[in-house]
Amino acid sequence: MASCCARHKCSKGVTCQAAHGQLNYCYCSAAAGHGQCFEAGAPERYVGILERTMPIVMIRDPELIKLITVKDFDHFVDHREFFGEDVFNKVTEEVDVDDLMRRYANDVIASTAFGIEVNSVVDKTNEFYETGQKLSNFSVWMRIKILITHAFPALAKKLKLQAFSEKTTNFFRGLVKNTMEYREQNKVERPDMIQLLMQAAKEWNPDELVGQAFIFFMAGFETSASVLVMTVHELSLNPEVQATLYEEIKQFGDVKKALIYDILQNMKYLDMVINETFRKWSPAIIMDRVCLKPYDLPPSRPGANPYTVEPGQVVYNMVNCIHMDEKYYPEPHRFDPERFSEENKNNIKPFTFMPFGMGPRNCIGARFALLEVKVLLYHLILNFEILKCQRTSEPLRLQPTDFQIKALGGTWVKLRKRY
Ligand code: HEM
Repeated sequence: MASCCARHKCSKGVTCQAAHGQLNYCYCSAAAGHGQCFEAGAPERYVGILERTMPIVMIRDPELIKLITVKDFDHFVDHREFFGEDVFNKVTEEVDVDDLMRRYANDVIASTAFGIEVNSVVDKTNEFYETGQKLSNFSVWMRIKILITHAFPALAKKLKLQAFSEKTTNFFRGLVKNTMEYREQNKVERPDMIQLLMQAAKEWNPDELVGQAFIFFMAGFETSASVLVMTVHELSLNPEVQATLYEEIKQFGDVKKALIYDILQNMKYLDMVINETFRKWSPAIIMDRVCLKPYDLPPSRPGANPYTVEPGQVVYNMVNCIHMDEKYYPEPHRFDPERFSEENKNNIKPFTFMPFGMGPRNCIGARFALLEVKVLLYHLILNFEILKCQRTSEPLRLQPTDFQIKALGGTWVKLRKRY
């Protein structure tokens, strides 16, 4: 096969490179551009060039061009990617992870609890998202109302104090009611919570039904979004953890195969990473309980008196503080998924890891939430490398005045497409 290098020395100073298969290649640099290679290739109908490291066949003969572009088009259907090989190294602008994950968590709840499809990443100002944000971004007034309700429940009742505005609750009420009516009239069935609520409709009044969907929103939205944000943040700061996770995901991640439940269950390292995020940044900071019957607590230290908790009194089980106690987790600020490996997890003392609470009152959405979080992380890590950027807060510290687990300065990263 011919090449401009057949003579081992190109004319016009173009340097010869090593042979690639049957075609010898000229190095096409900025100095020795395509035009020079073309000229140097005469009288061959085509020659080989190397564009950086990529071997390319340069066609010099119009007859051959006709064959390639028209007659034998089916052999050459696609253009090259516009940005060439660099497109695969394309790094995004800084991404606001908080915003992105909230939109994802919002859409998941919209679909599974309220039975509606929204795409908040594309349709940024859809009503469901905007109203949901009002619920979870506690305004100062909302916080005051919650505080009064907690501290003086009788007064709050008398004042008919409600944490959420009537407009907001009416929106969700209308949504559930309309969806149910539509499904009934059009005989639509869908495997979601609205379907379950419709089955329970005979025993519950409409407000109770709406209340259930509302509780799912309140309990499931912020928690899931926050654990996703914190996992992404930690992965950006811990590239070696991210690399191990990627290796695991890649093993299972033949993109042609559909992601099925069983695949996710087999991903041990993914589980370890998520557990470590739950430990370090548990969205539920406190697990509260209200005392129903007098309860004798043992002495708080040797020599002290026992203490009786009276009915109505509130008990806080300190989830986060225990998760961060070095008695149970040495170097608690270190993000180390190995704490949850097969060998190490047996060393975790009972009741020192409780992201979903404990006992019969624990989280009913735990399995759902884990699935939601794993599906997103699977796709994200399979397709993108998470990179720290200028705005990534390191070391990761929390906003001091929030109910929620949020990084100081927000969570910002860059994403690099893997292939
Ligand atoms: C990562 C996400 C989540 C975390 C970390 C989380 C955590 C918790 C915790 C700590 C509790 C209190 C448990 C206790 O006091 O023992 C709880 C309760 C609850 N969670 Fe979740 N949750 C998550 C997601 C969800 C989701 C997605 C839903 C619904 C779709 C949900 C529904 C509930 C409900 C209804 C309760 C109240 C249970 C009761 O009082 O009986 N949660 N959650």
